[in-house]
Amino acid sequence: MAAGGAFLLVFAVFSMLVMSSLGNPRPLCSDCETLCRTNCTAEVETSCSSTCNDNPLEGCRRQVFERCTTDGTCCSSNGTCTCDCNTVSQDRCRGITDNYTDCQACERGQFDYCYSTCKSGCNNNCKKKKGCHA
Ligand SMILES: *[C@@H]1O[C@H](CO)[C@@H](O)[C@H](O)[C@H]1NC(C)=O
Ligand SMILES: *[C@@H]1O[C@H](CO)[C@@H](O)[C@H](O)[C@H]1NC(C)=O
Ligand SMILES: *[C@@H]1O[C@H](CO)[C@@H](O)[C@H](O)[C@H]1NC(C)=O
Repeated sequence: MAAGGAFLLVFAVFSMLVMSSLGNPRPLCSDCETLCRTNCTAEVETSCSSTCNDNPLEGCRRQVFERCTTDGTCCSSNGTCTCDCNTVSQDRCRGITDNYTDCQACERGQFDYCYSTCKSGCNNNCKKKKGCHA
């Protein structure tokens, strides 16, 4: 039990050293790829979030659909419907793009830029070989 606890403690300290070495100005060269991929994935998610989370097409359809149903444009009070608000919203919002293309473009562009910057920075400032001590 005590031996297990000691082992866990050593492991925890070791993990912390490994973790803190990630923030080290001199990572292992073999880690550059992973570090930059992780870093840039997070960065892209932040910087493209408005483009990727705001969907103009969806917004348009929702608005038109809501107006259509609340105004009763399609159905009279006696229940006769001359149109379908779903179809109406799709027709009205034709030509409005969804966020897919812009989101992809943003993510690809930001990632490529971030990754190449990060990678060359990392390659210029990394340790070639893993030493016994950090
Ligand atoms: C990620 O990269 C950016 C810009 O290259 C840098 O400012 C930031 O400190 C990096 N973060 C980590 C965790 O390496
Ligand atoms: C319901 O109202 C519409 C017009 O508002 C009318 O054309 C239709 O005949 C009516 N249907 C019934 C069943 O009363
Ligand atoms: C578009 O935006 C919606 C939120 O409105 C989001 O759920 C979806 O993942 C986005 N699509 C892309 C390709 O990012």
